[in-house]
Amino acid sequence: IASYRGRDFLSMNDLTGEEIEEVLDLASELKLRQKKGISTPILKGKTLAMIFSKNSTRTRVSFEVGMVQLGGYPLFITATDSQLSRGEPIADTARVLSRMVDGIMIRTYSHSEVEELAYYADVPVINGLTDYEHPCQIMADLLTIKEHKGQLRGLKVAWVGDGNNVCHSLMIGAAKVGMEVAVATPPGYEPDQKVSLIAQKETSRWGTKLLLTHNPVEAVTGADVVVTDVWASMGQEAESAERVKVFEPYQVNGELVSHAKQDFIFLHCLPAHRGEEVTAEVIDGEHSVVFAEAENRLHAQKAILTLLLG
Ligand code: CP
Ligand code: NVA
Repeated sequence: IASYRGRDFLSMNDLTGEEIEEVLDLASELKLRQKKGISTPILKGKTLAMIFSKNSTRTRVSFEVGMVQLGGYPLFITATDSQLSRGEPIADTARVLSRMVDGIMIRTYSHSEVEELAYYADVPVINGLTDYEHPCQIMADLLTIKEHKGQLRGLKVAWVGDGNNVCHSLMIGAAKVGMEVAVATPPGYEPDQKVSLIAQKETSRWGTKLLLTHNPVEAVTGADVVVTDVWASMGQEAESAERVKVFEPYQVNGELVSHAKQDFIFLHCLPAHRGEEVTAEVIDGEHSVVFAEAENRLHAQKAILTLLLG
């Protein structure tokens, strides 16, 4: 446990498969304690600065509530209200905050900006979503899969849609814990090659498979877990109309999921657009666990906060 203290969590690639499993075990323990009403003030007196350059419901609430449940104090900072939007360098922000708080969570656009923040900060930096990754989401997703399936290793997860930030973190995380990973995207919307290389390396280490395809049926066939996300991420609003056309054949609907295992589960990080990337039939249907998944943001992040700041 001591080996996590002071580290950053910017990418699923910052953790080994074994470490991911350790974080999930701690998350389950913290979840159980909270359900039983046992308090865990392990971060008493600690503060977390949370910088948001994009909207959020789940990330903000889960980090804020998580810090309070651990006895700490969260500070909600929007880029707009802080000096960041008036041009204060990220490096200066990092050095100032490091002298006042015990950790920094940031949601912004560019991943390299978060890497720069982490480079200049003396306290742990946690990625609350960039254009490249959303690792906290995938910790919650893996926890949800483990809870519903009893295991991770050997399961097949299928991603259908945009090869985006959430897709990247899923590919790395799932591959590291021994899952088979299949990704179906339209041509031109494939995941980043560096991510595919990492996932490829991890799956070959386990002797599992990584499939990159343009065919959603091929990806979903035999899947234990089906995952999708919005077609236009935050910052891509101008491309929305074009993306709706390109992604239409990638909608997760009843026909598509009929190719998954009979007891598959459906995940979506939310917010969702019913009738676009997923039909109401699927997201509101009996295979969907999206609200358990959303709740698990809280439990997974409490584990991360405990390990990094504790
Ligand atoms: N899934 C997720 O990160 O949700 P928010 O954008 O509401 O934080
Ligand atoms: N891919 C989405 C995820 C939102 C939680 C986005 O970046 O907007």
